[in-house]
Amino acid sequence: MKYTDLGLVNTQQMFKNAIDGNYAIPAFNIYNMETLLAVLDAARIAHSPVILAVSESALKYMGPDMLIGMIRGANIQPHEQIALHLDHGGSIDACKHAIELGFSSVMIDASKMSFDENIKTSKSVAKIAHDHNVSVEAELGTLGGIEDENTFGTIGYTNPTDVETFVAQTNIDSLAIAIGTSHGAYKRKNTNEELRFDILAQIATNLPEFPLVLHGASNIPQKLIHTINEFGGKISGALGIDEIQLRRATKMNICKINVDSDLRLAFTAGVRKSLSAHPDNFNPREYLSDARTTITQTCLDTIRHIMGSENKVN
Ligand code: G3H
Ligand code: 13P
Ligand code: ZN
Repeated sequence: MKYTDLGLVNTQQMFKNAIDGNYAIPAFNIYNMETLLAVLDAARIAHSPVILAVSESALKYMGPDMLIGMIRGANIQPHEQIALHLDHGGSIDACKHAIELGFSSVMIDASKMSFDENIKTSKSVAKIAHDHNVSVEAELGTLGGIEDENTFGTIGYTNPTDVETFVAQTNIDSLAIAIGTSHGAYKRKNTNEELRFDILAQIATNLPEFPLVLHGASNIPQKLIHTINEFGGKISGALGIDEIQLRRATKMNICKINVDSDLRLAFTAGVRKSLSAHPDNFNPREYLSDARTTITQTCLDTIRHIMGSENKVN
C-alpha cells in the first residue's frame, strides 16, 4: 500500500514549516478507533498538522489490516497534513513492514546499540525509507522512565559533539534526542527540574535548521489525575514536563513532540467520569464517546498551549 493512497503525507514539509515557524508538530499515539478518531477530530478542529504515532505493540494490538482499514475509513485528505508514523521501530524489518503497510514515516530506535551500530542500522532504514519517499527518525542518547523499565531511570544525555556525524552518515530526516525527558507518567520528582536546555542549544547550533524530536514529553495534566482519582482511580506522584519548558523547546528546533501518556490519562479519566456519572449505564458506546471527547480536548489543549501548531495547515 502506498501512503499517498491513504491521503497521508510524510513529515518533510511539515517539519520544514515547523522549523521556520518556531512551533512543533504533535505526535499522538493511537491504538484503537477511539484514539484515532479523537486525535483526528482535534487536528480538524484546530487545523493542525498531526502525526499519528503507532508503536510496535500498538500495531500488534490492532493488527495491521485493522489499523490500515481504520485509516482508510477516516478519509484523510492530503491537505490535512496527517502522517502515519512507526514509533520506536526496534528493527530494520519492523520499519520495512511499516513502509509496506502504508506508513509515511518510521522511527528506527537503535539508541541502545553502540554509536557505530546505531549509525549502520539507521542508515539502512533511511535508504529503504527514502526509496519510498517515507521519512525517517532515529535516536541518539537514551531516555529515562519506562524505556529503562523503571521510573526515574538514568538518562543517557545526547552528546552534542556526536550529532553532526550521526546525521551526515545516516541521512535521516529527524533526530530524537535525550535532554531529560522520560517515557511514562512519572517523569520527575518535583516541578523545578529543568530539561537540559544547554545540551539542546549545543545540538541546535551543531545542526542548524535540522528537525529535532522530543520523546517522553507528556505534560501529565494534573486535572486529569484529579478526575481519575475523584472517580475511583489511585494514581499518585505522576508529574510531567511543564508547558513553559515544552514551549521553550519548540523555539529551539524541537519540531516534533511525542505525547502518549497524556492521552492514556484522558481516556481513563473520560471512562471513569462517565461510568461514575451514569452508574446504570452499560453501553460502551456511551462511555467510549465520553472518553473520545476527553482525548480530543486534551489534544486541543496540547496543540494550543504547547505545540503552537493551530492553524498551521495551509
Ligand atoms: O514511547 C513509547 C510509547 O509510549 C508507546 O508505548 O509500546 O506501550 O504502545 P507502547
Ligand atoms: P510520554 O510517555 O511522555 O507520553 O512519551 C510518549 C513517547 O515518547 C512516544 O514515543
Ligand atoms: Zn518515545
